Amino acid sequence: MLKKLALLVLGLIVVTLGGGLAYLTFKKPAMQPASTREVQRTPERLARGKYLFDAVANCADCHSDVDWTRFATPIKENGYAVGRHWPPELGLPGDFYSPNLTSDKDTGLGNWTDGEIIRAIREGVSRDGRVLFPLMPYTEFRNMSDDDVEALVAYMRTIPAASRRQEITKVNFPVDLMIKSVPQPVTSPVPMPDKNDRVAYGRYLSIIGGCRTCHTPTEHGSPKPGMEYAGGERFELAGKNMASVSYNLTPNNNTGIGTWDEKQFLDKFHQFKDYAEGKAPPITPENFTVMPWLSFNGVEDDDLKAIFAFLKTLKPVEHAVVTRPLASGK
Ligand code: HEC
Ligand code: HEC
Repeated sequence: MLKKLALLVLGLIVVTLGGGLAYLTFKKPAMQPASTREVQRTPERLARGKYLFDAVANCADCHSDVDWTRFATPIKENGYAVGRHWPPELGLPGDFYSPNLTSDKDTGLGNWTDGEIIRAIREGVSRDGRVLFPLMPYTEFRNMSDDDVEALVAYMRTIPAASRRQEITKVNFPVDLMIKSVPQPVTSPVPMPDKNDRVAYGRYLSIIGGCRTCHTPTEHGSPKPGMEYAGGERFELAGKNMASVSYNLTPNNNTGIGTWDEKQFLDKFHQFKDYAEGKAPPITPENFTVMPWLSFNGVEDDDLKAIFAFLKTLKPVEHAVVTRPLASGK
């Protein structure tokens, strides 16, 4: 999602240059007032919210103070949900911070209403009306059901306040103007997909889990037609000789997951259990990745099975990918 989102925004620029910038300078982003609904807290909701926050939707991974020098960015002690900074080596168009999501009143969300939090998550608009950079995946989270986004808010309210002020993201010109076109209000109810329909539910999880974003290659900033989930998106740490490329998740027999069975798929997600429990090794060209393996260690087997069932229904695409192109011997 990192460099790729930058490219997405840059792609938009090419389309709109030539008179477009003047227009964008004065453009008002599409936004609606935050809803006034208050989220009911039930034990079920808190549990669901925590699960989405920590595992499926990677909120904790992207909003915690993490150790960039170790495999899959483990969360530092006392760093949970206090926000983070992205290293400039990732080549993003600006200086990127994610805010503190704890209930601290000064530096976190303590003074936000439930509706303001929901609007930020699904519509990309901060409390004061500032447009969020789509590294925050609100373009995918807009598909998150009302139940799930409310569960998230219920849980986030219980994260103990931790005072940590993050700087506000600075987006370079002219990308700062371009992103004004990205937010879209969610104007109708978003129902929860039927959990018994494994394929539909797996598709839903793969969208809010970021699988689609990272595993679909982009060209000139847009998803390549016909290549959904076919892998090949490259994420690089400039000057550090490390890169990872997303794998082909379509059921092609030679280059994708066509010959994988369910157990093999689940084993991939179970293999980093020790790492998730505090033993993540230093990053090297051989293991460097942006795939949030440590968060995904917490995804339930039943949900992984649903994702696998969904991936198996995709059109097989022949697309060979080398996932660690800068590893020695490659
Ligand atoms: C890929 C990384 C990433 C993921 C995943 C992510 N966020 Fe964010 N989030 C960000 C960044 C970066 C910003 C700040 C963007 C900006 O300032 O333009 C942000 C902003 C926000 C804001 C706005 C706060 C403010 O002060 O304006 C909220 C609320 C939020 N995220 C909640 C969540 C929740 C809840 C989840 C999980 C459902 C989540 N985020 C997942 C990166 C992420
Ligand atoms: C932030 C980007 C990102 C997200 C989000 C992401 N992936 Fe990945 N994924 C990658 C990259 C890059 C690799 C290759 C490096 C590696 O194996 O860690 C990868 C590797 C994989 C592999 C291993 C393939 C192999 O070589 O054995 C599987 C399986 C996979 N991803 C499935 C998923 C699923 C399912 C989801 C959603 C639940 C997902 N990914 C979300 C970036 C991502």
